[in-house]
Amino acid sequence: MPGPLRPYGLTCEHRVTPLGLDEPRPRLSWKLADDRRGQRQSAYRLRLATDDGTNLFDSGVVTSEETLDVVPGEVSLGPATRYTWRVTVWDADGTEGETAASWFETGLLRPSGWGDAEWIEHDPTAAPALEPPAADPHPLPERLATCPGARLMRKVITLRDNPVRARLYVAARGLHRVTVDGLRVGDDELSPGWTDYRHRVLYQTYDVTEALGAGRHVLGALLVDGWWSGYLGFDQRRPAEHYGARPQLIARLEVEYADGGREVTVTDSSWCETAGHILHSDLLMGEVHDARHRPEGWDRAADFDASGWSPVRVAGRDHATLLGALDEPVRVTETVEPVASRHLPDGRLILDLGQNLVGRIRLTVRGATSGTRITLRHAETLDDDGELYTANLRSAEATDVYITAGRSVETFEPVFTVHGFRYAEVAGHPDVTVVAQVMHSDTPMVGEFGCSDADVNRLWSNVRWGQRGNFVSVPTDCPQRDERLGWLADAQVFAPTACYNADVQAFFSRWLLDVTDGQSARGAFPDVAPALDRPVINREGAPAWGDAGVLLPWLLYRVYGDRRTLERCFDAMTRWIDWIAEGNPDRIWRRRVGNHYGDWLQVDALTPRDVLATAYFARSTTVVADAAEVLGRAAEARTYRKLVTEIRAAFQTEFVSDDGMVEGDTQTGYLLALAFGLLPDHLVQPAADRLASAIRRAGERLTTGFVGVSLLCPTLSRHGRDDLAFALLRQTEYPSWLYSVRHGATTVWERWDGYTDHAGFQAPSMNSFNHYALGSVGEWLYARVAGIAQAEDSTAFTDLVIAPAPGGGLSFAEACYDSVRGPITTAWSLDDSLFTLDVSVPPGARATVHLPLPSGSDGSAVREGGVALDDAPDVTVAPVVEGGELRCQVGSGTYRFTVPFRTPGQED
Ligand code: BGC
Repeated sequence: MPGPLRPYGLTCEHRVTPLGLDEPRPRLSWKLADDRRGQRQSAYRLRLATDDGTNLFDSGVVTSEETLDVVPGEVSLGPATRYTWRVTVWDADGTEGETAASWFETGLLRPSGWGDAEWIEHDPTAAPALEPPAADPHPLPERLATCPGARLMRKVITLRDNPVRARLYVAARGLHRVTVDGLRVGDDELSPGWTDYRHRVLYQTYDVTEALGAGRHVLGALLVDGWWSGYLGFDQRRPAEHYGARPQLIARLEVEYADGGREVTVTDSSWCETAGHILHSDLLMGEVHDARHRPEGWDRAADFDASGWSPVRVAGRDHATLLGALDEPVRVTETVEPVASRHLPDGRLILDLGQNLVGRIRLTVRGATSGTRITLRHAETLDDDGELYTANLRSAEATDVYITAGRSVETFEPVFTVHGFRYAEVAGHPDVTVVAQVMHSDTPMVGEFGCSDADVNRLWSNVRWGQRGNFVSVPTDCPQRDERLGWLADAQVFAPTACYNADVQAFFSRWLLDVTDGQSARGAFPDVAPALDRPVINREGAPAWGDAGVLLPWLLYRVYGDRRTLERCFDAMTRWIDWIAEGNPDRIWRRRVGNHYGDWLQVDALTPRDVLATAYFARSTTVVADAAEVLGRAAEARTYRKLVTEIRAAFQTEFVSDDGMVEGDTQTGYLLALAFGLLPDHLVQPAADRLASAIRRAGERLTTGFVGVSLLCPTLSRHGRDDLAFALLRQTEYPSWLYSVRHGATTVWERWDGYTDHAGFQAPSMNSFNHYALGSVGEWLYARVAGIAQAEDSTAFTDLVIAPAPGGGLSFAEACYDSVRGPITTAWSLDDSLFTLDVSVPPGARATVHLPLPSGSDGSAVREGGVALDDAPDVTVAPVVEGGELRCQVGSGTYRFTVPFRTPGQED
């Protein structure tokens, strides 16, 4: 018996069962499943209760199709409380479906919830508690040697009974890892992540109920510099006081007993600390562990002799910046074994992991005598001599060192560092085993793509690996060299692809706080977020970079229906536009001073900077006007609409000739003008033709940089040139996506010429092999090659456009995208005589399916599920044939369309 309608995939604030939420009005969402066609929710009932079953809210039966971001009334939530919620749904016919339940738990909710908790830190004026380790006879890499090690902090507590509930709230200005009785709590890495610490430090909430019982326990914490005071970006100065001089920890443990009693432990002057076995630690430089110096039992034994330890220094009680974590943390999500290894005559071992990845190595050492020093170096590629190629890491040492304690088997993994690498060198001991641990922000992966071209599949995989490796707490440019900054344009051009690959709603909406935090008083968005005070990275306002502050909230609204983020960013968005408008009264954005990266890393085709800047000025202003309309801000909508008209007119007068030539005559110039709607109607086709000629002139190759490339294939498709888009996609000569694939790339390179047959490696000063920006073509693979897209005016994938492009010599393509409404899948194949398209649409969505027709066909031979469309259930044929295709509409469900066809070029 098919049906009923079933809710599943329940989320709160776009996370599954979040713990420690500080959002006073959390949004609840669910997906729907139903085997029947044409299903949707006609009504829902939402109930919210406390964990003990006290009902707080009952929406009653609400007639609504809404499944996203439903806020349970005006309920006022208490701190540190678990709430359960249940949703019941009614199907399209009004029949009651199933009920599903989930929970969320609030955090401390207000800064005052931290009570007496103090920030604690190492006191540099205290006498060194322990003998410093003896000087190492083998000097360490210079910059690694300048990095301080981890501080070990501990506190012994005594519980009078077994708790019924215990929560540990922890944050650091720096990075922390916390233990209870020697056991790590949580599986998060690099916590609390990177935010603009001047404004916000996220805290983690751990359920430690199971870890605690009546009696004595040891709370332990490792604390290091991390993003707070470690090496950051390309700033090579020490001490690196980007946000503060040294790391600090804050924690609060709340324990509840069955009799209702409560006990609270906080960080304060009663904690003690020392230096330990992690002698040096830094995100960029690496980590040095000396296992001989691990104070055995420090984190486990309540009677451990800590008499040599120092009291911590109390560094204040500022709780104002603390906020419960807003997105999934960095985690280890996969381990990768080497695919090849090579022993060198001098004893070194070179390992190939087969994949350029981001994370760390876990090393197992056997039979090493105490004090054996094992050095791990990392690189993305090898040089011609088969040695690690590390020149492109710039000043990042990317070196981990382990000094053994002398046990028969020892394992080592660094704690607070990440490297971008495919190859590793192990020196110092012959009997070692190595695996790589892949680390990244644990955004749920939601997209899959495949087609008949193995190189294109590798490209898709490279794009996805690039996303995983570069989404490490913030969206970074690259994971290996001394940079790893949240450059706004990189994120902006790649974000549409990122949304297909993973559910990045919580990730990006959290990062947008850093983007708006970094906005200058004048209204300029920073070029990198989180912003930094140090002048070396203190840049702002670059065209196409700062625009991320406008384009990303809009993208989240479009993809996820996230209206709240749009509302929260709206003022910042308008301030950005106002700042540009004030400085450019003639509506041409002339950026004569400051930074302007243009079409960064284009290939011999300099798009005039004013063209690029003004086009972005128009695009962002259009988005602000659209956002104003969505948010019901009519006056602002009018103001910005008028401004768009002025910018368009200025763009046309200044840069567009009567025959459709855009100044500079570059691919990117045409792409900007076409994609952002800057041309008068009569010049659209001429400009599209000029774009096509520019591509042909270049030998069917691209010349675009970071900015143009994201528009390339989508714009060609929109203007009827799938043929050229495919030609670029499948081009294998330099410059092209597949050039890197054919040269063994397993991630997307920073530049088209990262390595070329004619010139070898590009200058090492800027040559990352793992940069996601040029991978922005991923969006087009999903949206056009596989055909999963939404209509221009649709949000949250409600109105789908399933318009796959059977072209470029591909014989099949398929994709699955688990949208906020549930999985959307397409799979098409084309053989000598038949085009077949399988589609599935989740309940609550509807789709217009575009089916290519052979020339002259009236569409009557098209079948769905083997029957003529007129007879196929739940398929509506819209005005039959348009532009060589047949369009029809379907509701939710699974469909198989067939079109008798001939492959292009096939003779009658
Ligand atoms: C980064 C880029 C960034 C650019 C700004 C580079 O160093 O790696 O990805 O967008 O600077 O032009």
